[in-house]
Amino acid sequence: MKKISEFMKLEHAHLDKLWADLETEQNKKKSKRILRKFSDDLFTHIKLEDEIISPIFNKYLGIEKGKGPTTVMSSDHEKIAQLLGKVKVAKEKEDEKQLTQLMTHFRRALTSHHEKETKMQYPLFDNIISPRDWEKILEKKYHKSKVH
Ligand SMILES: [Fe+2]
Ligand SMILES: [Fe+2]
Repeated sequence: MKKISEFMKLEHAHLDKLWADLETEQNKKKSKRILRKFSDDLFTHIKLEDEIISPIFNKYLGIEKGKGPTTVMSSDHEKIAQLLGKVKVAKEKEDEKQLTQLMTHFRRALTSHHEKETKMQYPLFDNIISPRDWEKILEKKYHKSKVH
C-alpha cells in the first residue's frame, strides 16, 4: 500500500497533466471535456483532503475544527475553487485573452499549492494517520471515486 504522500503525489501528477493538456488543446469541444474532467477530479481530491483525511488528522491530535495545519490547506482550496470558477466563466464567454491570463494564474496557484502540501501537510499525515486508517479510507470511502 502506498503512503498518503505517495498516493497524493500520483493524484497531483494526474491533475497537473490534465491541466497541461487543457493548455495545449485547440479543439473547443475537447478542451471543454478536459476542463470538466479536471474539475471533477480536482474536487474529488480536495474532498479527500478536506472532508476525509483532515478530520481524522485533527481528531488524532485533538485539534478543534478551524485550527491547525489543515486550515492553511483548506483556505488554499477555497482560493483555487474561486479561480477555477473564473476560468470556467471566461471559457463560456470565449474571452480568449482573459482565459489565457486566468489559466496562467491558476497553474501557478495549483503548482504552489501542491508544493506546499508536499512539504507541509503530507509528511504530517504520513506520520500521524495510521496505515490501518489510511487503508480503511481507501477501501471504504474513496475507492469508488478515485481518479487512477
Ligand atoms: Fe489540496
Ligand atoms: Fe493535494
